Amino acid sequence: MIRSLADAWRAARPPATGLHLDSAACSRQSFAVLDAAAAHARREAEVGGYVAAEAAKPVLDAGRATVTGLTGMPDAEVVFTTGSLHALDLLLASWTGGRTLACLPGEYGPNLAVMAAHGFARRPLPTDGEGRVVVDEAAAGLAADPPGLIHLTAVASHRGVVQPLHEMARLCTELGVPLVVDAAQALGQVDCAAGADATYASSRKWVAGPRGVGVLAIRPSLIEQLRPRLPPPHCVSSLSVAQRLEFGEANVAARVGFAVALGEHVASGPAAVRTRLAELGRISRTVLADLRGWRVIESVDEQSAITTLAPVDGADPAKIRAWLITQRRILTTSAGTERAPLELTAPVLRISPHLDTTIDDLTTFAEALTDATAAV
Ligand SMILES: Cc1ncc(COP(=O)(O)O)c(C=O)c1O
Repeated sequence: MIRSLADAWRAARPPATGLHLDSAACSRQSFAVLDAAAAHARREAEVGGYVAAEAAKPVLDAGRATVTGLTGMPDAEVVFTTGSLHALDLLLASWTGGRTLACLPGEYGPNLAVMAAHGFARRPLPTDGEGRVVVDEAAAGLAADPPGLIHLTAVASHRGVVQPLHEMARLCTELGVPLVVDAAQALGQVDCAAGADATYASSRKWVAGPRGVGVLAIRPSLIEQLRPRLPPPHCVSSLSVAQRLEFGEANVAARVGFAVALGEHVASGPAAVRTRLAELGRISRTVLADLRGWRVIESVDEQSAITTLAPVDGADPAKIRAWLITQRRILTTSAGTERAPLELTAPVLRISPHLDTTIDDLTTFAEALTDATAAV
């Protein structure tokens, strides 16, 4: 019997308490991922933390190799981080090129703060009404006045719109401007194999790894130009740039779990996963289309599993989220304007189902949202 992706995904992890529609925040880990991280922690107790880390190197290297494949960066060095924001911070702290960047008006708020903290002047990429970059228009402006880098958040936190990553990668290659991709919401959900100069992502979202770990993949041509601030080269002269970026204390068990989750993602078939997630997005938007008091933001066929709902009659997404958890055990996100301060004018409610979500689950959510809207 051939098991569906949904069945396999469901059987591979502990049952959820209630309805988990929040993978864009944090997915549910599989038994294999949980066990691998726990087994590593146990080995640390048995043989010592540094000996266990040495023994885990092949697993971690396999994880790094999987990231190079998923990002289309076969020659990249892959650095483990504590998450996406840490990855951007490491990269920009080491940047020696021009300190101007172009990014989306819908850029993730904390990313904007990291860019500002490192003294980057920012200018917006041109977008259409949905917040998607208009590549031809961008090409003209970028060619006339190239920035030091282009930063593209492939899928935002506050909106399930997928950016034309491959077209932007081609444009950046033509222009000779480095492309840095925030794939926090994209890795494991949309095709990230665009061959950017740097791509970073989180473990816990669509790849369903542990919390507190992420990756930063950097092509050799860019890594040569980075000067990590810490540790100072005279202290660790034998380390490569990638090793210096990764220097410091780490939760190796979480990295092992992430490497296993990456392996599981590849074993599931990334293209099939993407197709099913996009299908779940379409079903969600269809089920939610006529819900009173809410407007679905994305086009019905947007190729992502993220659906955001804007209140049209004054509902408060934060209160609705809390009601859904306490009254129905349904997990969603309330996304405030701080997620995209240059684009989002009012909070939205976000759902982000993973592979095991059914049409019945989405109908249950729609009914619960109607009840919540009436109740709070
Ligand atoms: C688009 C985007 N970028 C970056 C981040 C930050 O990721 P992390 O919490 O792993 O640092 C998030 C987190 O939700 C995100 O949605």
